[in-house]
Amino acid sequence: MQHKSKLPNLETTIFSVMSTLAHKHNAINLSQGFPDFKGDQKLIDLVSDAMNAGHNHYAPMPGVFKLREAIAGKYDMLYKSSYNPENEITVTSGATEAIYSAITAFIRPNDEVIVFRPAYDCYIPSVELNGGTVTSIQLQSPEYKVNWNEVKEKISSKTKMIIINTPHNPSGTIFSKEDMLQLQELTNGTNIIVLSDEVYEHIIFDKEQHQSVCLFPDLKSRSFITASFGKTFHNTGWKTGYCCAPKALMDEFVKVHQFNVFSVNHPIQIALAEYIKSPNHYLELGSFFQHKRDLFLDLIKDSRFKFTASKGTYFQALDYSDISNENDFDLAVRLTKEKGIASIPISAFNANKLDNKVLRFCFAKTDDTLKRAADILNKI
Ligand SMILES: Cc1ncc(COP(=O)(O)O)c(C=O)c1O
Repeated sequence: MQHKSKLPNLETTIFSVMSTLAHKHNAINLSQGFPDFKGDQKLIDLVSDAMNAGHNHYAPMPGVFKLREAIAGKYDMLYKSSYNPENEITVTSGATEAIYSAITAFIRPNDEVIVFRPAYDCYIPSVELNGGTVTSIQLQSPEYKVNWNEVKEKISSKTKMIIINTPHNPSGTIFSKEDMLQLQELTNGTNIIVLSDEVYEHIIFDKEQHQSVCLFPDLKSRSFITASFGKTFHNTGWKTGYCCAPKALMDEFVKVHQFNVFSVNHPIQIALAEYIKSPNHYLELGSFFQHKRDLFLDLIKDSRFKFTASKGTYFQALDYSDISNENDFDLAVRLTKEKGIASIPISAFNANKLDNKVLRFCFAKTDDTLKRAADILNKI
């Protein structure tokens, strides 16, 4: 039998490539975005309580209602923005499923989707699997600022969706209020859907405010927000997240979610519903990771890497152009094998694998891991 691949150019995700290499060479793994410390024992106990209480069968298809209510409460409290827990919030199998389901619900063959590059790597295959085409807008290191005139030029009658991500993986930059207003103005009066990937919503530094699409009424009316409890509560392996959108969009989303995963891990949802009643559990995240960013950057301030401090996420981009001419993938592999430190080459997220000589390092690690990593980076 012969089959034509639906994704002929797709390679194994760079996260698996680098984590596997890190493991093989026993390197400090600052590549894939996950903490090397344990999440809150309280939350783990709540999950085990929920299992012992018998919540071990299918959860309701859109998610445990108490959890959806708690999510709605968070949006009310933080953004004075209301989402109806009945029909505007769905609990998903991580943000990845939310992104896939939102794209699949709306993208048809030949629809165009605008993606800012570097971009988290699940967006483009999800568009292509649905027959859509990606219009990339490449942002440049170190500012990664969007030129909204360029966006205006790239919008066509076929543009169905624009995907944004703030705070931004992999650059650690954030969209300003002005960026959001520009996006709102450009999409006003169009049928364009905005997919706003806000998984790092609570990991934002230096007293900056997260600019959620839900703060901008016209944007909110055309937007999906995708979010990740794994990122927020240091349990990425639980693959639990959610999606918010106005009812008309969510009605279509749920049709895909229903036959993609049907429903999401039940005891974890019961536990999260209880856990997020205490806002401190997520509101303290920014200062927690800002400490780690500051520690990491202070430790490497005399190294030969150049950087602009990350404004959000738990990633720091480091420019190595003063150190080597190697392309970023080769250097990332060599540093893993020879120096014992793994990172992510940013070209993996760029259009045409553009190589700006920048590597991404994850600082969601214990202070001890960061010190050991810095010792290596300072000698490069
Ligand atoms: C920008 C971005 N979006 C989505 C995801 C996926 O989130 P989840 O693990 O909840 O599926 C990640 C994970 O690294 C991410 O960095």
